[in-house]
Amino acid sequence: MKKFKLPPYPYDLLKPHSEIGERHPGGLIDLSVGTPCDSPPQAVVNMLSNSKTERSYPKSTGSEEYLNACKAWLTRRLDVKSEYAKNISGCIGTKEFVASVPNDLRLKSPEKDTVLYPAISYPSYAMGAELAGCRAVPVPVNDDYKLDLSKVDQEDVKRALLLWINSPCNPTGVLEDIKSLVEWGRNNDVPIFSDECYVEFIWGQKPSTILHHGNEGVVAVHSLSKRSNLAGIRAGFYAGDTDIVHWLSEVRKHSGKMIPGPVQAAAALAWGDDAHVDHQREIYKSRLTVLTDLFQKLGFSVNVPQGAFYLWAEKGGLNCWDIISELATQFGVLVSPGDFFGSNCAENVRIAAVQPESVITLLKDRVNAHLP
Ligand SMILES: Cc1ncc(COP(=O)(O)O)c(C=O)c1O
Repeated sequence: MKKFKLPPYPYDLLKPHSEIGERHPGGLIDLSVGTPCDSPPQAVVNMLSNSKTERSYPKSTGSEEYLNACKAWLTRRLDVKSEYAKNISGCIGTKEFVASVPNDLRLKSPEKDTVLYPAISYPSYAMGAELAGCRAVPVPVNDDYKLDLSKVDQEDVKRALLLWINSPCNPTGVLEDIKSLVEWGRNNDVPIFSDECYVEFIWGQKPSTILHHGNEGVVAVHSLSKRSNLAGIRAGFYAGDTDIVHWLSEVRKHSGKMIPGPVQAAAALAWGDDAHVDHQREIYKSRLTVLTDLFQKLGFSVNVPQGAFYLWAEKGGLNCWDIISELATQFGVLVSPGDFFGSNCAENVRIAAVQPESVITLLKDRVNAHLP
């Protein structure tokens, strides 16, 4: 086996720029990582110390209470038929799931060695493929940032273990036409894993899940991290195809992957509550408007997202690292470079709407002080 070449962790590369930002009076304004800054529901946080689940090992697939809460959420919020929500299992947040699916699935289908993923996407799809010793093959996107599966080489299709899709997409905010992707997957015998962690932050349309199209050959992946501002407790789930969900949950059971008991108890409460999400959606909507306006004033061309809470922006063909250096030096603000999300994104930056109003006002003041 070839030695794995360990790349630097992307966000570690931003450290010199965050240090420059920190020197500004008032400190760094961090719009780089998509980590929520708002409060989760207090009842959920309280449950972490009141569940009395600490002593025994938690169920790897998820407690009945946890899974029932996830299923109820799928039917209540996403209008998924209960028959398509019945194969379901918990994961420890979703990054670990994304990063380990290729390895776990390849144990089932060793003849397949290729992971297809969107050419502009969350970096863990490609990293999961590499960690499993698979080929990570990006699927081109069209001018609207939607997947163009007609551009995938037939040899790659034959060798594909799975295709990742992400709608709404991090970083572009685009919504995919999920139905046509499902048809492609079924026609080509490629399982589709649909990462839907931003599904409740869609602007102006009803949420759409892959489970609206049945569960055969598809898996939907969900997380509480963004939905409920609970990235710190690590709770998610996946649901869909009978064989795939069963296989993955058995492999994960053998590898000792389990959501801690107190987290499952607290997370069940979070999946059961919608009011805090509706409130949060309005906050993101308003922050995205303010940030769009602000970055346009700075000369950026900004892609208004259909969902999720990021702005995908560019500025007159400048390289993303030059933009980052300029923003950190002039305004003490940190954003993510486009090349974290794809090899053709060197002219883009991603701006995450993850700071409270007081901090965004500070940024506005710095920008206004600078503009003529
Ligand atoms: C598209 C996408 N998928 C998955 C994740 C992972 O989230 P978590 O591991 O917190 O569930 C993120 C986090 O930023 C994301 O943007």
